[in-house]
Amino acid sequence: MMKIPFNKIYLTGNEINLIEKAFSMESVSGDGFFTSKVTSLIEEKFSIPKAFMMTSATHALDMAMMLIDLGPKDEVIMPSFTFPSTANSVILQGAKPVFAEILPTTLNIDPGDIERKITKNTKAIVPVHYGGIGCEMDRIIDISKRYNIYIIEDAAQGVNAKYKDKFLGAWGHLACYSFHGTKNYISGEGGALLINSKDKELIERAEIIRQKGTNRSKFLKGKVDKYSWVDKGSSYTPSDILMAVLYGQLKHLDIIKKKRENIVKHYIKGLHKYLESGVLNGMTSLEDNRDSNYHLFYILLDNETIRNEVIYKLKKCGIYARTHFEPLHSSLKGQTLGYNLGDFKVTEKVGKTLLRLPLYTDMTIEEVNYVIYHLDKILKEL
Ligand SMILES: Cc1ncc(COP(=O)(O)O)c(C=O)c1O
Repeated sequence: MMKIPFNKIYLTGNEINLIEKAFSMESVSGDGFFTSKVTSLIEEKFSIPKAFMMTSATHALDMAMMLIDLGPKDEVIMPSFTFPSTANSVILQGAKPVFAEILPTTLNIDPGDIERKITKNTKAIVPVHYGGIGCEMDRIIDISKRYNIYIIEDAAQGVNAKYKDKFLGAWGHLACYSFHGTKNYISGEGGALLINSKDKELIERAEIIRQKGTNRSKFLKGKVDKYSWVDKGSSYTPSDILMAVLYGQLKHLDIIKKKRENIVKHYIKGLHKYLESGVLNGMTSLEDNRDSNYHLFYILLDNETIRNEVIYKLKKCGIYARTHFEPLHSSLKGQTLGYNLGDFKVTEKVGKTLLRLPLYTDMTIEEVNYVIYHLDKILKEL
């Protein structure tokens, strides 16, 4: 019997050398040699005016909310179908997350529902690019302009993917990427905050918040001869050791993407017949005007019992498949915000019926075939 884990980290082979280089340069704290390298690489490759490397996407979202001066009474619209960090970033500033429904096609936020949720207190929208497939950015930008509200992209899963001809993360006023160990490009824990403007004041505020409320960035650039406490802030700079790892990973940006593309396309080819016959209600679909980064592959089953039975039967064959987001509005914390079960029909159904199949960069076609073969048998028995 083969053993197919749900996820496996992918190493390019250069990581250890790069870590040793960071040590030999005594570059271990924040904003060292490799941080500068990955920052430039991200800005250039994804056409981002200003990127800041961060300790996580969670922290990047937290900082984004600070930068738009979010406060009590403010509301931020986001899908309920997302990771808790998206909503926590709003709550931590004393503001209110307002959930919206998703589209059944991409599982991304429904622009029509964003518009229904706008009030005079709406300050921002957070489009979450689920699985590296871009949200309807044209429509979301249009809403943001008409109502004069910020867009903060949660592109935690969207590194190296595009909506139309622009990379995810380059659309919003602000955005985040994640380099967590489960993502396509990893530093273990890590992220980036992206600022899509050259606004000097905003960039300087970001530098200060990120560096414990000090003007250390100015000091590092030789603009002041000592640094001191100038405003509120926290500690969001990742260790340069981790950025050395990320540098190795980002050097293989498109190699990693191509490997994942082959796997996802193989899954789609093998399982498409079940969509046509109605056994599956949906699966990862590659939209025409969206270049995916192939972050994940999911299928939608009929109901929760069947989904859980499939997980159990796959496991018996050595295959580890997983569910994904518990809709935030129906979670313990979400219910304290005044939401009830039944508020978001598509989201709730997806939360109960979505199953992610194993997907990792080095997965072989033989392994994908093994998963398809067993899933095929299980689906036939249903
Ligand atoms: C949509 C989304 N937002 C935010 C995060 C948080 O990312 P990080 O682990 O880098 O803090 C995740 C992590 O899985 C995510 O999927």
